[in-house]
Amino acid sequence: PKLEMFVDKLPKLRKISFANGKKLTIGVYKIKQKLHRDLPPTTLYAYGTTARTASYPGPTLEAIQNVTSHIRWENHIHDKEHMFTVDPTVMWANPKKGGVPMVVHLHGAETAAVSDGYPDAWYTAFGDTGHAYTTKDYQYPNQQSPTMLWYHDHTFGITRLNILSGMAGLYIIRPKEKLPAWIPHKNYEVTLFLQDKALYNDGRINFPTVGLSLRNHPHWCPEYFGDVILVNGKAWPYLVVKPRKYRFRLVNGGNARVFELSLSTHKTGFIQIGTDGGLLEKPMYVSSLIAAPAERLDFIIDFSLVAGEDIILKNSALVPYPDGDPAFTPPSTQSIMKFKVKKFDKDDAPNSPAIPAMLRKPDPVISLENATWRTNTMIEIADEDDFPTGSLLSNLTWMDPVTDIPYLGSTEIWEFINLTPDAHPMHIHLIKFKVLNIQPFNLTLYEEKGCHRFEHSYRGPGSCITEDPVEPKAYHAGWKDTVIALPGYITRLVLHWSPEYGGEFPFDATAKPGYLWHCHILDHEDNDMMRPIQMLRR
Ligand code: C2O
Ligand code: CU
Repeated sequence: PKLEMFVDKLPKLRKISFANGKKLTIGVYKIKQKLHRDLPPTTLYAYGTTARTASYPGPTLEAIQNVTSHIRWENHIHDKEHMFTVDPTVMWANPKKGGVPMVVHLHGAETAAVSDGYPDAWYTAFGDTGHAYTTKDYQYPNQQSPTMLWYHDHTFGITRLNILSGMAGLYIIRPKEKLPAWIPHKNYEVTLFLQDKALYNDGRINFPTVGLSLRNHPHWCPEYFGDVILVNGKAWPYLVVKPRKYRFRLVNGGNARVFELSLSTHKTGFIQIGTDGGLLEKPMYVSSLIAAPAERLDFIIDFSLVAGEDIILKNSALVPYPDGDPAFTPPSTQSIMKFKVKKFDKDDAPNSPAIPAMLRKPDPVISLENATWRTNTMIEIADEDDFPTGSLLSNLTWMDPVTDIPYLGSTEIWEFINLTPDAHPMHIHLIKFKVLNIQPFNLTLYEEKGCHRFEHSYRGPGSCITEDPVEPKAYHAGWKDTVIALPGYITRLVLHWSPEYGGEFPFDATAKPGYLWHCHILDHEDNDMMRPIQMLRR
C-alpha cells in the first residue's frame, strides 16, 4: 500500500515494573492492531498480561539490577494453524494437535538454561511440547550490568514467523542507584523498536509463501525484507521533542534488514553511549549508526541545536548487507521516523549537563594467554540449480552433536570466517563479549588451498590471509551479544565464560536444554545456522 509517512504519533509502549518483586504472567494472544492511520487493523500474535492489553511490540518490562524477575509465559494462541506458511522442510516444531508453538528467549540475559528459551522447549495452547520443554515459569536474576535487552520468540524452525507476527518486546535492567545527571531520563528517555514488514492493503502482513529452491524448501526464502518501516508498532511515526538532549534506546527487531541510521541535518548528530551489554567506556560522536538484527544502540541526540526544525531519521543500509540489492532498499525503507523539534520555551527545564569523557570505569584487561580458540566458518549452500538452500556454521546443522563445550570461567577466542557474500549478525547466548580484531582474507586462495588453520598464524606461508588484523569497526565497540561478521573477514571475539549470573548450569554435555549461538537473520537461524552450547565445570 501507498502510505503517507509521519502521520502517526510514535506509540509510547506500556511499561511494567518488577520493582516490588512481583510475579508476572504474560501470554501470547491473537490481537488486532492498527499499524498506520490509513490501514485497517492487522492481525498479530502479541504479548500481554491480558488479551485486552496485549500489544505489538509487547509491554516494556523494567527490571531492577540484582532483583530476580519471575515470569510465567503462557500460550493463548488457539489457531490450529499458523497465520503464515510453515515450511516443514526446515527444522520445525511439529505439534501433533496443531496450534502455534512458542517459547520465549530474553535476548542478552544471563540466566539458567531452563529459563533461556531453548528452541526445543516450545509449547502450544493445546498441550504439545518440544522435547526440551520443562516449564513455563522463567526466572531472570538480572545480575548483569544495566542495559536494554529484548524478549522474543525462539521456537524451533518458526522463529521468523513468530517474531514477524508480533512476538517481541523490550526489557530494561535499571540500576538501583540514581542515574548521573548527564543521562537524560524519564520523559527524555525514548525506546525505539524497529522492524520492517511487507503489508497488504487490507492490513494483513505479507510473508512469502513460495521459496526460491522449490525442490529443497518449497516455502523458505533466504531473507525476508519488508518495505514498511515500523517503530514501536507504527509505520514511519513522528515524535514531538523539546529542544534539549534525549536518550534513545533502540533495537533492530527486524528479520534480516540492517539499518544504517543518519539524520537529515548536519547541525546535530548521534552521541553513542552504549551497546548490547551496557554503557561504553567513552562516548562516540558519530553521524551514522549501524544496527543489524538484534543489536541494540544507546545514544543521545541534542535537539537544542535544531530548535523549531523537523528532522528525519534516515536509513541508508543496502540489504542484504553490505553490498545489497536496491530492490530490497526502495525509497520507503530510507526513512524511519520524524522528530518535530519544538521552539525554545522560557518555562522549559534546562538541558541535561555535558556528557563526560569517561562514562564509566574501564574494564579490567582479560588475559588471552591461556585462551582456547574456536574457529568457525560460515558457508552458503545451494541446490543443483544454484538456488540458495541455506547457510551453515562449519558445515554442521542444529541437530549435529554439540561441539562447543566451554569450561565455566574460561576465556576463549572465537573466529568467524565468513565465506558467504553477506554479513551475518552472530549472537551468543548467556554471556557478553568483545571484538578483538577483524582480518581480511583471500576467498579465492581459501577455496583453492583450503587454509583453515587460522588460529596459529595470522599470516603463515601459503596462507590465504594476506593482511594483518585491523581494528574492529566503530559498530563493534563495547560489550556485545550480537555482532556483525562481515563477508571476506575473520571476526575474532574474546569470550569470558563467566556470566555475571552465578546460579545453576547444566554441566552435562548431553543435557537439554543448554545454550546456543546462531545467526540472528531469522531465516538463517530457522534453517540450521544455529548450534548448541553446553557448559562444563573444570
Ligand atoms: Cu535474539 Cu538466540 O536470540
Ligand atoms: Cu546469517
